[in-house]
Amino acid sequence: MANPTPTLHRAELAVYVRGVSKTFGQGEASIHALKNVDFEARRGEMLMIVGPSGCGKTTLLSVIAGTLTFDTGEISVFDAQLQGMRQREITEFRKRNVGFIFQQFNLIPTINLVENVSVPLLINGWSRARAEARAQEMLARMGLAGREGDLPTMMSGGQQQRVAIARALVHDPKLVICDEPTSALDKETGAHIMELLREVARHPDRCVVVVTHDSRVYKYADRMAEMEDGAVERVYDSHAQYEQKAAQ
Ligand SMILES: Nc1ncnc2c1ncn2[C@@H]1O[C@H](COP(=O)(O)OP(=O)(O)OP(=O)(O)O)[C@@H](O)[C@H]1O
Ligand SMILES: [Mg+2]
Repeated sequence: MANPTPTLHRAELAVYVRGVSKTFGQGEASIHALKNVDFEARRGEMLMIVGPSGCGKTTLLSVIAGTLTFDTGEISVFDAQLQGMRQREITEFRKRNVGFIFQQFNLIPTINLVENVSVPLLINGWSRARAEARAQEMLARMGLAGREGDLPTMMSGGQQQRVAIARALVHDPKLVICDEPTSALDKETGAHIMELLREVARHPDRCVVVVTHDSRVYKYADRMAEMEDGAVERVYDSHAQYEQKAAQ
């Protein structure tokens, strides 16, 4: 199904993307990373984006999250329309409403785990004591109780990824954006994280969008979107539908 037409009222969508293009660089060296992308994610769902390396998945996540500007088109995230917003408004929108889990974990190496996880709360005006208490709770949910005072560099890749997930969820964001959230995790921890993310998604005021190459986690998706060469080419109404097609 190319360029799917909206089947839902706009109010039922968490993310609405129409005709979005993004070019990096200029002239002959420019790369057209997003080509007139149409995409939508519903409230209360976990949507997975798949597609070959370089097809534009991280770029799409970044424009939806407001960390990267786009050239043309329209993006709404819950009730916020990103096109036409000033940079300051986008920053405000992002810090309240978006949680990220990046392909690289982007932890701050010089501060300990509880301080890392507190950052989204501190920038939203929480007191340090309240923020750290909440961060500690999140770390415990990720199986990292007792490690709060350690530095990120003392942790394994999988542990760092769990810290990054704690930081992404600590301020209860409406939109959670995950770029390969299970790449560094063993099967059991990956399953635990996906169940947690699915639980987070199951709320009409939330949505989780996950980019993944990890076929072990497809089964957690409510729907799947397939990207190719800078565009969303197909949308599948279940992970089973996608896997059936992929097996052909
Ligand atoms: N900051 C940038 N400057 C220039 N080109 C970029 C930049 N970021 C991405 N690109 C290019 O845009 C295209 C899409 O990149 P993107 O990172 O979105 O791919 P991806 O689908 O996430 O790939 P992967 O699965 O390898 O992470 C690629 O050709 C990439 O080289
Ligand atoms: Mg990527």
